[in-house]
Amino acid sequence: MTLFRLDASIRVEGSHSRALADIVEQEWQQSRPADPVIRRHVGVEPLPATAWPNAVSAAYVPQESRSPEQQQAAALAATLTDELAAADALVFAVPLYNFGVSQHFKTWVDLVITDPRMGPGGEPLLAGKPAVLVTVRGGAYGAGTPREGWDHATGWYRRILADVWQLDLKVVEAEFTLVGVNPALDQFRDLAVQLRAAAEDQAREHGRSLGTARVAA
Ligand SMILES: Cc1cc2nc3c(=O)[nH]c(=O)nc-3n(C[C@H](O)[C@H](O)[C@H](O)COP(=O)(O)O)c2cc1C
Repeated sequence: MTLFRLDASIRVEGSHSRALADIVEQEWQQSRPADPVIRRHVGVEPLPATAWPNAVSAAYVPQESRSPEQQQAAALAATLTDELAAADALVFAVPLYNFGVSQHFKTWVDLVITDPRMGPGGEPLLAGKPAVLVTVRGGAYGAGTPREGWDHATGWYRRILADVWQLDLKVVEAEFTLVGVNPALDQFRDLAVQLRAAAEDQAREHGRSLGTARVAA
């Protein structure tokens, strides 16, 4: 069994999404200690932003007429898709940035979707595979909070992973990760500790289920 893990945080030290995804991965590994993990660190090793337009335009050009840039972009999309195809379970650790999606994760998704195996209309390559999305936010966006409705990322992450790719998706969410960093949030210290503990519990639970899930497809 193979685990695919993608991290989109732009940092390594102090990253909440990585720490929670580490818990998911460790739980998965409990039941399969010798099994491989394929890793993509799109936040610290970003994919080239030019790859996506080159891969899109490559689809309209016969193979033999493609420019070197189009060939490279199509080959990169195929490599990324091969990594997904090889996985039996998947973990995505993706923060909220500027009230929206991680640009690095978006670039990765856009490029993957240019591969003919992942495009619209085909048999969904990933349907039924068990997956966990870990998503973290510096602030809080729940019902009744001043910024309710400002999180424009989580809905899209779910839309792509659960609805478009039809993964069997579980979600771990942690809010108020900027408590302790931004003094304006000091009043939420106790709440932040509770939210973190709950997210760690979720990560353990979903990591365990990832390790024992059977692929439906
Ligand atoms: C450039 C930047 C923009 C951010 N924008 C937001 C934001 O709009 N809303 C929010 O709640 N947190 C925001 N954050 C905070 C991150 O979501 C938070 O620090 C999160 O924990 C980052 O993930 P990581 O801990 O895995 O690195 C931002 C952080 C950075 C560095």
